[in-house]
Amino acid sequence: MRQKVVIANWKMNYDFHETTSFIRNFLKIVFERKINHNKKIIISPSFPFLHISNQILQGTTLNIAAQNIHHKDKGSYTGEVSAYMLKSIGVQNVILGHSERREFFFEKENILLEKIKIALKYNFNIIFCVGESSLERSNNKQFDIVKTQLKETVFHCTSDEVKSFYIAYEPIWAIGTGETATIEQAQTMHEFIRSLFFDKYGKNISDKVSILYGGSINDLNAKNLFSQKDIDGGLVGKSSLELEKLLKIIQS
Ligand code: PGA
Repeated sequence: MRQKVVIANWKMNYDFHETTSFIRNFLKIVFERKINHNKKIIISPSFPFLHISNQILQGTTLNIAAQNIHHKDKGSYTGEVSAYMLKSIGVQNVILGHSERREFFFEKENILLEKIKIALKYNFNIIFCVGESSLERSNNKQFDIVKTQLKETVFHCTSDEVKSFYIAYEPIWAIGTGETATIEQAQTMHEFIRSLFFDKYGKNISDKVSILYGGSINDLNAKNLFSQKDIDGGLVGKSSLELEKLLKIIQS
């Protein structure tokens, strides 16, 4: 059985009070309704609140993730946060390669590979995002794009290292737009990604790697998406900011 995973990517939302009260309420309901069974639930708040969030979730099966790390350990990089620092407050997961990082912070595959290496050095699990733009899809380039994104980053890792990854397929045109990929588009891409893992690492690893879908997941479309054989969960943005919606997505 592949691990089922739901990740709440809160992006640059919620202050200290909003973060802590959401997590406390969420935790209470998750355990009351017992909806964490057989699933990995990861919440990704902003940097300043990772420590307190981790403390609140201490002793539970729920986890937190950082939304980014710098590609070096330490040094003169004003304003940056490293895996070395995050490790010291108990963070074990990081989202890398998100399209917003690629677009607004110009993160290319070479930097992403460095981030992967440093994350692995500190034993992080990595949620690695791939996905095409609408122009690339309209030119039928989506498979080439995703293949290149993986080839130049994740596929530099050994078969041992690659066990630390979750892959998130996030078509850029579906992120924050309310336009979700169709079940067929998502399943076809997930199957393709799994086949790339098969070609590179063999059946044992391709069978086990969890491939998540992301891009306008909500409480109404989650069930259909998650029922596909190669979709093992979701990376959820906007809908993860609403408690009941997030709970419903997890229950899907
Ligand atoms: P969305 O964001 O659910 O708001 O589309 C997903 C993401 O960016 O991870």
